[in-house]
Amino acid sequence: MQATQSYIEQNKEKFLEELFSILRIPSVSADPKYKTDVAKTADAVAEAMKLVGVNNVTVYPTKGHPIVYGDYVFDSSLPTVLVYGHYDVQPPDPLDLWDTPPFEPTIKKTEIHPNGAIFARGSCDDKGQFFMHLKAFEAMHKNNELYCNVKFMIEGEEEVGSVHLGQFCKENKELLKCDMVMISDTGIISNDTPSITVGLRGLSYVEVEVVGPNRDLHSGVYGGAVPNPAQVLCDMLASLKDENKHITIPGFYDDVVNLSSEDRDAMNQAPFNKDEYMKGLGIDATMGESGYTVIEQTSIRPTLEINGIWGGYIGEGAKTVLPSKAYAKISMRLVPNQKSDAITQLFKDYFTSIAPKGVQVKVTPHHGGEAAVTPSNTPEYKAAALAMEKSYGKTPIPVRGGGSIPIVALFESVLEVKTVLMGFGLDSDDIHSPNEHYGVENFFKGIQTIPYFHKYYSQLKQNS
Ligand code: BES
Ligand code: MN
Ligand code: MN
Repeated sequence: MQATQSYIEQNKEKFLEELFSILRIPSVSADPKYKTDVAKTADAVAEAMKLVGVNNVTVYPTKGHPIVYGDYVFDSSLPTVLVYGHYDVQPPDPLDLWDTPPFEPTIKKTEIHPNGAIFARGSCDDKGQFFMHLKAFEAMHKNNELYCNVKFMIEGEEEVGSVHLGQFCKENKELLKCDMVMISDTGIISNDTPSITVGLRGLSYVEVEVVGPNRDLHSGVYGGAVPNPAQVLCDMLASLKDENKHITIPGFYDDVVNLSSEDRDAMNQAPFNKDEYMKGLGIDATMGESGYTVIEQTSIRPTLEINGIWGGYIGEGAKTVLPSKAYAKISMRLVPNQKSDAITQLFKDYFTSIAPKGVQVKVTPHHGGEAAVTPSNTPEYKAAALAMEKSYGKTPIPVRGGGSIPIVALFESVLEVKTVLMGFGLDSDDIHSPNEHYGVENFFKGIQTIPYFHKYYSQLKQNS
């Protein structure tokens, strides 16, 4: 371990430069115009694997973007860790809100990252994080200090719902056979309060269209009598929540698992300062389901959010028009036992049922995914906790996360193994937003922590 850790210490600059070359390729999975860049990134990830001594490196094509796989299985008596991550990124838009270009990684100091943060799309989500595992592997391998067999599966469609990865897992159970899945694609509470994510929310994502008159109309000549789809859409969306911000879709909460008051008390012990939270976001009040704290509202409760809404004239100046159509994109975050497809159906049925006469409503489902809870009493969790304790000097706090990683539920059902979500980002790192960044120290801390994890996991697993 000594040799591994000093290798890491001596190669920090090299690690950063190598990460930068992957950050420079715009692997936006959602937008077909980046398809060749996504493929190029897959190749670059494969090269990075080969470079550090990973075997059987293969770029598996899918009907969407490729999956990069590689492994290093050297001792069948040792446990096998499957590292999952994603090399695709969210669209960088709106570009004019970036202080430096999204695919030109730049290190800048911030208040929270006094030693600098890497500003680039994907720096934290998830290129910077999966790359830590490759560099930790490099350090362990170079110094003959590998404690576990390792398999890597880095995909290119996480940000679009991992549509083809589920099938790949089902068809390659033997290839992916492992004792656990390790993912660094989440965060910690703060740089001096480590935490491990023990749950993710599920997702149901829909797009709605409201159509009124057969063409855009003069808002003076026709306004007042003809149904305005923008207005109708707003009314319909507004009615989806009551005055307590409770979602009004019948049956929406039926399968929600309610936590015991002990569990709720425990989760509310996690450090959280509401004033700082609001200050950091530039808001003077929070707004959420009554009866729940912010921690609960963003982790154990389901939500419905409008992600985008448009229709009519949105150009410069004023145009007096009564639009023919209006649209919205809506995401619902789900919690354990809610089923994504069932919730999508409930939404569809209800939303079409509340459409007033005079308009046509269409609901189109997009991707979804199930929630997941990862246990904290397993050797894999304990090993991660010990590793973080070693590198941070503090025991990490288990926390439920608000985001989604749809494939985690499938790892459990298809590969029949548990996942550990040991991420190193911060909520304030602006993933999916302009100026996404990842602390240079967080990147190094991750690389240092991972070898400890391998060591402790190997020990705990063999004694269990
Ligand atoms: N890494 C995130 C998920 C995440 C972030 C979980 C922070 C917990 C804390 C992941 O890349 C992501 O953004 N997932 C999407 C889901 C997907 C289906 C588009 C999400 O949560 O919106
Ligand atoms: Mn991610
Ligand atoms: Mn993401």
